[in-house]
Amino acid sequence: MTSVDTTIQLISAGAPGTTCSPDLAKGPWEIDLEPNPGYGPGSSMGDIIPAGAPRQGQLPAEYRDASDIELEARIVAAKATLGDRAVILGHFYQRDEVVAHADFVGDSFQLANAAQTVPNAEAIVFCGVHFMAETADILARSDQAVILPNLAAGCSMADMADIDSVTECWEALEDLYGTEPDETDRVPVIPVTYMNSSAALKAFCGEHGGIVCTSSNAATVLEWAFERGQRVLFFPDQHLGRNTAKAMGVPLEQMPMWNPRKELGGSDAQQLHDARVILWHGFCSVHKRFNVDQIDKARVEFPGVRVIVHPECPMAVVDAADEAGSTDYIRKAIAAATEPTVFAIGTEVNMVNRLAAEYPQHTIFCLDPVVCPCSTMYRIHPGYLAWVLEGLVRGEVINRIEVPADVAEPARVALERMLAVRPGASR
Ligand code: 13P
Ligand code: SF4
Repeated sequence: MTSVDTTIQLISAGAPGTTCSPDLAKGPWEIDLEPNPGYGPGSSMGDIIPAGAPRQGQLPAEYRDASDIELEARIVAAKATLGDRAVILGHFYQRDEVVAHADFVGDSFQLANAAQTVPNAEAIVFCGVHFMAETADILARSDQAVILPNLAAGCSMADMADIDSVTECWEALEDLYGTEPDETDRVPVIPVTYMNSSAALKAFCGEHGGIVCTSSNAATVLEWAFERGQRVLFFPDQHLGRNTAKAMGVPLEQMPMWNPRKELGGSDAQQLHDARVILWHGFCSVHKRFNVDQIDKARVEFPGVRVIVHPECPMAVVDAADEAGSTDYIRKAIAAATEPTVFAIGTEVNMVNRLAAEYPQHTIFCLDPVVCPCSTMYRIHPGYLAWVLEGLVRGEVINRIEVPADVAEPARVALERMLAVRPGASR
């Protein structure tokens, strides 16, 4: 029997046709085996998967054919056998059937920290996406194996900036600005990468005086960078960069975009000279679906509604919302509401539905009426979790994510700079 995400079950029971792709009802293994699998159902923005992206081979039939109940029982049994030899980390955007087994559930920042706090675990099973597993591997001990249950769980936004294009951009900026610090000892430009990026880009930041940020500490990290640099090169998410810098008072005219397919990123030399933040041309397909009309509609239908969106949403959406913050900010804002409140949320639907179930005293709904989960988080199905856990029980490590030492070392420098900068102090 093919398992189906509970989100999709709920929707198909109530209102057929309201998902962004009928393929969401498939098991991810059907997508793994397509000749050009792409990012999977829901990656509706025409995202192109890079040629070298990891591919997931065929999930063994016993897991593909198992019922939800059987998979659940097998995961519980394998976990019990492994005890604290294995720890399961689950991102907020994972499906319920996976989150149910997680030892830690959190945002990318919290899970990066959690990876460092499990000394007894031989294996860290990361139910999130590829860049998160890489980060866990960089921060974990070298004898701990980090496992990504489905190797095809990448992140289309992370893939929008690759090391070659960023290096080319950097060289062009060096030609333009030189490398000498100004009279206040600030270098011409500091690279800042969003956590949603490859280990190679984190390493690039480590090697070039830069730093990593997450959506929960982006403002604090930008402050750190402005103390050390005249400008910031921010990649890959233009929206997080723009929304955060704008809230800090940086004028939009001083935030040119860098499109790697255009000469000088599509800006002219004067714009780049005047820049405070150079924004890479990346975005998240899930958060790009939110728009101001959805917010206007929610305000008409629910006067007094509290609209909270993730800062990966476009600027107009963040401006029209009441608040913007990371997944953890959203969760805490709802948890802290003492009076029954209507919340319209602009982030991934699995997380929103879970919050709605957890806080029945509030009315909580996703701003996007079309159910469109993150297409790569979706690739971690309980079948893959059961497969890797039972592998560990047999002593076999399946789907290990290992960042080579020459990349891991400088990447750790950039991550540690972030962890040292008042971690999680902002949103
Ligand atoms: P958080 O950093 O809030 O966990 O978000 C990660 C992410 O991928 C959002 O799309
Ligand atoms: Fe990447 Fe967007 Fe999915 Fe987050 S929600 S993992 S940014 S594709």
